[in-house]
Amino acid sequence: MAEIGFDISKAISFLQNGDIIGLPTETVYGLAANATNATAVAKVFEVKNRPSFDPLIVHSNSLEKLNPFISDIPEAALQLARNFWPGPLTLVLPKSDSIPDLVTSGLNTVAIRVPDHKSALELLERIDFPIAAPSANPFGYVSPTSAQHVQDQLGAKISYILDGGLCKVGLESTIVGFHGNIPTIYRLGGISQEEIEATIGTVEVKVNQASNPRAPGMLQSHYSPQIPLIIGDFDELTMKYHSKKIGLLSLSRELNHPAVTHQIQLSHKGDLVEAASNLFSALRKFKATDVELIIAERMPDKGLGRAINDRLERASFKN
Ligand code: TXA
Ligand code: MG
Repeated sequence: MAEIGFDISKAISFLQNGDIIGLPTETVYGLAANATNATAVAKVFEVKNRPSFDPLIVHSNSLEKLNPFISDIPEAALQLARNFWPGPLTLVLPKSDSIPDLVTSGLNTVAIRVPDHKSALELLERIDFPIAAPSANPFGYVSPTSAQHVQDQLGAKISYILDGGLCKVGLESTIVGFHGNIPTIYRLGGISQEEIEATIGTVEVKVNQASNPRAPGMLQSHYSPQIPLIIGDFDELTMKYHSKKIGLLSLSRELNHPAVTHQIQLSHKGDLVEAASNLFSALRKFKATDVELIIAERMPDKGLGRAINDRLERASFKN
């Protein structure tokens, strides 16, 4: 099992040695490697069991330190970086030659981000290389929002997990690219579409391609909680599936029904930001129960509600 600790110097020495570690961010925990060391990056794909065509996000503590790895930055991207970094926003920009092809899966763009997490920022400040980090879950599974989640899923394969507490955003970063100079959201996440549009005007949203070669990780069958999950009306679906042990996942609503053995409200006060931060741990909690079917309520189609609905749809796709 991995050691879980608060020792930033120790985390840095693993990274300097070409080893990979669990790294906290405000969105989800990452599986971190020196992005300029192709051998270290290869370990990330191996540990995650991730198809190598899926590119990784490159993290640092400032745009200045990421500059050598990009070849151009549109004005709109600069505005987004100024407004939302450090924060849950990833920018896809034309890459420079300094970044190994393995990181970008051979694409001519690179995804970059400055995370908003105290110990991650301190670590990133103290190193002179950027960090490639996907979410620290096996490919296709729910992303980890605590050090223990990383331990549970990947602890046998890595040496160290830097403990940064619970992730305050709890959903992955919003990914924005500028294909043909049109700002486009490739993944809904911790910064809402409304916030982005308030900064740079109308954007396109292209999140549902099952195999978009530009963002292969947007595969629809992601975030599997390993229990069948359906989205829809509680009363109707509870009636229909009453012979199963049902888990209900709602924003704030409660329902009494003999078939419902567990229910989780993502936010008692109906706050979508709080709901987002609880989503992945809620899916994991169901997994630890005898629930045979999760029925999830659709969130309001605004703010982070959209990102939550996106993750619920991906979690339900295979079922
Ligand atoms: O919040 C986050 O973004 C977390 C933390 C650790 O920073 N990271 C994360 O990484 O969610 P990952 O690997 O699970 O998801 C990154 C997504 C993938 O779907 C990948 O396809 C997309 O970013 N991506 C990476 N580079 C890209 C590029 N050059 N063009 C388009 N999409 C890219
Ligand atoms: Mg991921």
